[in-house]
Amino acid sequence: MSSSRHRVPLEAGLPIATISGEQRLVFASASDFDHAWDVGIFYLRIPENLDLDDARQFGRELISLDSAYRQIVQYGKLEGFIALENNQQTKLALRRERWDQHYPADVAAFGRQLDTIGIAIIREVFNQSGIPETLWDRASGGYTSGGGDAFLNFVHYDTRNPDWGLRPHTDYGFITILDASAPGLQIEIDGQFQAVPILPDHLIINFGEALHFITAHSDRPVGAVVHRVLSQQSTDPIRHGIVYFANPDLDGILWQFDVRGEIKGSSSVEDLFALLEKNLIQNRK
Ligand SMILES: [Fe+2]
Repeated sequence: MSSSRHRVPLEAGLPIATISGEQRLVFASASDFDHAWDVGIFYLRIPENLDLDDARQFGRELISLDSAYRQIVQYGKLEGFIALENNQQTKLALRRERWDQHYPADVAAFGRQLDTIGIAIIREVFNQSGIPETLWDRASGGYTSGGGDAFLNFVHYDTRNPDWGLRPHTDYGFITILDASAPGLQIEIDGQFQAVPILPDHLIINFGEALHFITAHSDRPVGAVVHRVLSQQSTDPIRHGIVYFANPDLDGILWQFDVRGEIKGSSSVEDLFALLEKNLIQNRK
């Protein structure tokens, strides 16, 4: 995405979307829609049927050192109860396949509600992209029809560690859905970081690299916004986050189509993520 499109000042506030009764992502105006697609992040009014209160309560209870959920074993590097080493995040992170095994039933059901929201958002990205609908499922490695990979993570920030909340990065997947209890999120626009305030009754949605990849040759590509979380202090209210990542399957393939449905490129998800990881490490040097 060219920086020339990042011209809308954030002081005006991020645009706000809703999910309609037909499960469509809608904005109040065309300029709000343009703004959201240009910056790669927007607020989503919390749908009335979303059971957020129980999920928030579940996240808050993970703070307790005797919570049984802190004993969930790690599966690889990305799942289980994890205290990260180069930032303040402490989290319980699980892929969709393990929600029923480890999460309470209402939390697993909440994750599936977020699946529905994720699909609605990605379908609107495709809709605007001009890529023929018959190809959406293939382009997204099955995510638009309920497949793909999804994480539902419960995060809090360990203020005994005087590190970044989260270092600047882009998300690798399609979209990220965030419910945060306290400020700290910032996004980079034209080389400058700007705060994304908490807006009560709204989630924060941002686009990721996989979505950027699959729309790159379409009529309306989307960009992955660079973001970070400021270091949280012990004097701050504890920052809780519920984070849902809509991702492609790690062993899948992503396809780039143009509006005529012609293939313009492809990548294994593994290769795309490895390239992003390499760039991230180089940028840190
Ligand atoms: Fe992120």
